[in-house]
Amino acid sequence: MVRLACSSVSFWALPASLRLSVRSASVAPVLRHSYSQDATPRNLTIAGTDYPTDTWTNVPQSILSQYGRKLHIQPDHPLSITRKLVESRFPGFRNHNTLPGVVTVDQNFDSLGFTSDHPGRSRTDTYYINKDTLLRTHTTAHEVDVFRQNSSDGWTLSADVYRRDAVDRSHYPVFHQMEGALTWDRSAFASRQACMDAIRESFDKLPKHDLVVEDPNPTFHAERNPLQDKYHSADEAEIVAAHLKRSLEDMVVAIFTAADKALIASGQSSESEKDPLKVRWVEAFFPHTSPSWEMEVWWRGDWLEVLGCGVIDQPLLIRANQLDRIGWAFGIGLERIAMLLFGIPDIRLFWSKDPRFLKQFTDAGPMKRFQPFSKHPPAPRDVAFWLPKTLKGDVVAETPASTASAPNSAGGQQTSSPRNNAVEAELAFHENDLMEIVRTIAGDSVEDVRLIDSFTHPKSNRRSLCYRIEYRSLERTLTTEEVNEMHERVCGEMVGRFGVEIR
Ligand code: PHE
Repeated sequence: MVRLACSSVSFWALPASLRLSVRSASVAPVLRHSYSQDATPRNLTIAGTDYPTDTWTNVPQSILSQYGRKLHIQPDHPLSITRKLVESRFPGFRNHNTLPGVVTVDQNFDSLGFTSDHPGRSRTDTYYINKDTLLRTHTTAHEVDVFRQNSSDGWTLSADVYRRDAVDRSHYPVFHQMEGALTWDRSAFASRQACMDAIRESFDKLPKHDLVVEDPNPTFHAERNPLQDKYHSADEAEIVAAHLKRSLEDMVVAIFTAADKALIASGQSSESEKDPLKVRWVEAFFPHTSPSWEMEVWWRGDWLEVLGCGVIDQPLLIRANQLDRIGWAFGIGLERIAMLLFGIPDIRLFWSKDPRFLKQFTDAGPMKRFQPFSKHPPAPRDVAFWLPKTLKGDVVAETPASTASAPNSAGGQQTSSPRNNAVEAELAFHENDLMEIVRTIAGDSVEDVRLIDSFTHPKSNRRSLCYRIEYRSLERTLTTEEVNEMHERVCGEMVGRFGVEIR
């Protein structure tokens, strides 16, 4: 299966307990070198507001400088065009597109039912402004507020979201998600049955499609994908789930039909008739929905993870003072969809201010495939190092190459609740720390960072890692001197911050 930009949800789709064991198996807690001991200012000013920093602060200036670009509402930007295309499949929904990205830990995690030891909270994967405030890791952070505001039954919400993550052509620490939800107020109907009838009627009016849909599992399963039986009857959950699935199937038909058209128009001939679009529903886990699913789409030879969704957690709605509402929600990554629609090969391009990129897209008229305007040579450099010895000679592991993307703002490195554990017994080295050093130093002049070798010395028990860093600018050819200079700084930071020994 191909995982494209920033919306794969598989890691977060595991229950927290499982994720912990999956990802902590290979890591050893040791005292972490605190974040930029030298350079954390006392306050951070973000969009005109000052926030005090503390030992939790880990958001670098390079990320804050991207804050507020609002690509998803920039006219003629491919992310904005994609957003509008998705919104257009939900007529009558209210579209919230300007909510600020600084949120509380409560908004991003607690209010959504994330357990206190949920790996999503870890500092290795989430950008904290301080212990109570962070850059949202998903648009779900606004669900409770939007439900509480109760200004429409259906709504979408698009925004920039932030995650410490791998460096490659489909991952970037800032990306965009769209949340969508539709609820019905049972108390507005004469009976629960009357509400179900209304949902059924609405379902019957949804556009029909002739897509092949694989949906092998029962709507709920006691262990794997439970019904919220304290709040919902089986019939209620069934009709909400059916409405959800059909609505999202219609949406992907629209998107992928547009993508096919653009491909045909560009002369890249269509294989679509031989290999028609298919959808499959995969059971999933999110703290804020149950039952939950991921949708995967078969498009031009690969299964693509497209979105996460489910029946909204009733305690979440109750927290929002919507005691009688019942409904569904989904979250979709916009970069992934836009990359498919327009054939954009590198996620960094979305941030480009180069007119050779921006001029290719327009809100008006048919969708056109992106035409690459230049190719500059890559400049690979390797960094090989010994990890510092931990007490037991144990070593710290790499993140499995970016499962992440989705809300995984945190990996299972946290062996105890980060909230209770202010003196961070975290890792000496986490792969995302290297990713961040490289991004901070090389900015958008780095295309890919990957582990190419790893071994443990049989006698000393020390672990050696080697990463290949592919420097390459999308806009110009980098000189050997500047690449060397960046690379030396990366090596220096690795030594200074993590005590590694360069080999
Ligand atoms: N918050 C989930 C994510 O970031 C997506 C999601 C949204 C899943 C709404 C279910 C419902 O991956």
